[in-house]
Amino acid sequence: MKVLLLGSGGREHALAWALSRSPLCDTLYIAPGNPGTQACGVNVALNALDFENVLEFIEEKKIGLSVVGPEQPLVAGISNFLESKGHPVFGPSTIAAQLEGSKQFAKDFMAHHNIPTAAYKVFSGDYFNEVLDYVDARNEYPVVLKADGLAGGKGVLIPENREEFLAGLEELREGTLQTAAQTLVLEEFMPGEEASVFALCDGEHFEIMGTAQDHKRQLDGDKGPNTGGMGAYSPSPLLSEEVLQTVSENIIAPTIAGMAAEGNPYKGFLYVGLMMTPDGPKVVEYNCRFGDPECQVIIPRLQSDLLTHLVQSTKGSLQEENIVFDDQYRTTVVLVSGGYPISYQKGYPITGVDKLQRTDAIQIFHAGTEQHEGQLCTAGGRVLNVVGTGKTLQKSISMAYKGLESISFKDMFYRKDIGAKGLNHVS
Ligand code: AMP
Ligand code: GLY
Repeated sequence: MKVLLLGSGGREHALAWALSRSPLCDTLYIAPGNPGTQACGVNVALNALDFENVLEFIEEKKIGLSVVGPEQPLVAGISNFLESKGHPVFGPSTIAAQLEGSKQFAKDFMAHHNIPTAAYKVFSGDYFNEVLDYVDARNEYPVVLKADGLAGGKGVLIPENREEFLAGLEELREGTLQTAAQTLVLEEFMPGEEASVFALCDGEHFEIMGTAQDHKRQLDGDKGPNTGGMGAYSPSPLLSEEVLQTVSENIIAPTIAGMAAEGNPYKGFLYVGLMMTPDGPKVVEYNCRFGDPECQVIIPRLQSDLLTHLVQSTKGSLQEENIVFDDQYRTTVVLVSGGYPISYQKGYPITGVDKLQRTDAIQIFHAGTEQHEGQLCTAGGRVLNVVGTGKTLQKSISMAYKGLESISFKDMFYRKDIGAKGLNHVS
């Protein structure tokens, strides 16, 4: 089978690495890919949001399955478009992707199906005074403000007091998030530690596709602004077999059943962001795709064939599948351009990647890199993911930090405490 993978980040490099090893895969095309994915297949210059162009390529190359990495083309409807032309796609439909594309859709869905999540209220139109009156009357902080639409991880504000709340509301009204924030979701603050669980879904059934914990904030100790993710580890020690069973029964099963009952069967990866609250696990958010960098720590643990799983998911026959993971931990540290996520330079030469001895215990996935006249250079905020493997979480953390020692580029930055919060929960 010929496979087309859409996307260009660290998540897509990890997916490309696993797809290229599949006995079912003849040729893997990655669009647009990055210098790392080049070793897994053929990079092609296609824009995933240009559906006609993608279709032309699929027909010309006789692609058997298209796999969509990021959320934007899914929310924009690429699955429906390609399926309507008779081409199998791995990834949810336009409406199913609204679980990520619209916070209001997700919250209303969870309320309707009794899925545990934070209490909420939706405001739309010229909502400034209405929200202000509502929050003043309650006078409880912190409070959670969410722009309804896709905001690249920047649409959530958690003001701790009235002053921050007023500034946040102003930012949503005046700032770059205006479009996403036309509707606002106000949520109760949930205390607790966060963990993520991934499910592979075929519309009717699901299988757990691993657990992980991310580090979203820029600086050590979870300080600084939110980023796309500065590092992750898998499996999550918070999600024991027993807790995972509860999450499957109370959260994932009703999500899949609810979407099917509403006529929007969910196919693809479902990312469930959880808060482990004193009242049990509750949903923080859904995403309609794999996490980045969570994918980079989960996919290397997969022992069974990823492409077989994805094909079964698109065909609706997942119950026959048996997803097998190894029993090792993985930790990834993300090397970012100095200043990320706010403002940073690109185009700096990267050294040490080729020299790095690739043992089974250290792996590198590219994200924001490009080849420039034969030299690997930085080309984005998140540049490289160094993944360490170990029998224990501590060992996988040590291997990731050992792996990155030989890599350097100007203004390179990374968190020094990736995985540390997980060590509190392992014996
Ligand atoms: P989201 O984009 O919805 O995942 O929100 C981004 C981050 O904000 C989450 O990863 C949490 O750290 C935090 N967050 C979102 N909603 C809540 C909530 N209701 N209570 C506490 N923290 C939250
Ligand atoms: N690492 C967070 C995300 O993929 O949304």
